[in-house]
Amino acid sequence: MNILVIGGGGREHAVIKALKKSKGVEKIYALPGNGGIAADAECYPVKATDLDGIAEFTKSHKVDFAVVTPDDPLVLGCVDRLEALGIPCFGPRANAAVIEGSKVFSKDLMKKYGIPTAESETFSDAEAAIGYLKRGSFPAVIKADGLALGKGVVIAQNFEEAEAAVREIMCDKVFGASGNRILVEEFLTGPEVSVLSFTDGKVVVPMVSSMDHKRAKDGDEGLNTGGMGTVAPNPYFTEEIARECMEKIFIPTVRAMNAEGRTFRGCLYFGLMLTPKGPKVIEYNCRFGDPETQVVLPLLESDLLEIMRAVANGTLSEKQVVFKTGAACCVVLASEGYPKKYETGFEITLPEAKEGEYVYVAGAKAQDGKLLTAGGRVLGAVATADDLKSAVAGAYALASKIGFKNAYMRTDIGKRALAAKV
Ligand code: AMP
Ligand code: GLY
Repeated sequence: MNILVIGGGGREHAVIKALKKSKGVEKIYALPGNGGIAADAECYPVKATDLDGIAEFTKSHKVDFAVVTPDDPLVLGCVDRLEALGIPCFGPRANAAVIEGSKVFSKDLMKKYGIPTAESETFSDAEAAIGYLKRGSFPAVIKADGLALGKGVVIAQNFEEAEAAVREIMCDKVFGASGNRILVEEFLTGPEVSVLSFTDGKVVVPMVSSMDHKRAKDGDEGLNTGGMGTVAPNPYFTEEIARECMEKIFIPTVRAMNAEGRTFRGCLYFGLMLTPKGPKVIEYNCRFGDPETQVVLPLLESDLLEIMRAVANGTLSEKQVVFKTGAACCVVLASEGYPKKYETGFEITLPEAKEGEYVYVAGAKAQDGKLLTAGGRVLGAVATADDLKSAVAGAYALASKIGFKNAYMRTDIGKRALAAKV
């Protein structure tokens, strides 16, 4: 089979490397892919959001199955478009991708179907939101309704910060139309857990849980980033909590989407907070997480393409989805200065990855036979092992062998997970 993967980051590299191990895969195309992905797939310079370009590509290349990975093409209806061309896809249609595309939609869904989440109010008028915040308590959480490159959430410590955030989002429109509406949400506390799941709308199969490290600096200081590292499994996600989440969150969400006529097929990502009052949904994503995928897929024992095809045709219940019992850690190497200003264009030296080690390339381009840095997050060094401590040590050992001029990484990925008392 010829597989088309839409996207071009570290997550897509992890998906492609896992698909390469699947039975029956002949060729993998990546649109646009990147300089590192080019070692594992044929990359063509078509943007993930260029739905016309993607459709055109499928007319001149034989594509048997497509995997649409990033949020924006999913929300734009890339799956609807490819399905209309007769290409089966892994990923939700636009009417289901709205679970990530609109935080107002997902909040209303949770309220309607009794799925535990933070209390909130929705506003489409800045002055009304500011008036409400004046009477409220802090910290308060302000969320832009639509996609905002992962930057649409502000935790305001006081009224002044809250007012500034509302004005930026709703009046200055820093996220464009995504800021036409906002949610003002109760501030929750507790460990965060990411759970990616496969669902065909009938059954939901959670993958191994994981923990993201979103802040740029050690000790969870500094600016929010796309993710500086991950570990799996997440020690806070005990069997008892997993059962509770299945019963109160995972199954009810899949059923709620069906009841709304928006059956979700693909990877449904549950961003959870384990609060003193039980697990609550912080956010849904309509896709694999980045860099969660980089620690989850190396632990998948089953054939990824087989599972994805079963998700697409509604036969997931017939498949075994098996994960290894060990652990994985991903350390992201970024360009110094990320997520603000940084330089690119430096040559990357890559070590030979041994059994159980992976280098997933996110921001790099191939030029004159060399691999050059081309983004904020450049790559992820991943190691798997029997236990988390060894996986963390393995990922750092691998990262230390990777070189480029302005490389920056956190030195404490996995520390919180290793110290967890559950
Ligand atoms: P998101 O971009 O939706 O993943 O949100 C970014 C981060 O903001 C989350 O990972 C949480 O750490 C934090 N966050 C979002 N909503 C809340 C909330 N209601 N209470 C506390 N923290 C939150
Ligand atoms: N790592 C969080 C996300 O993919 O949204």
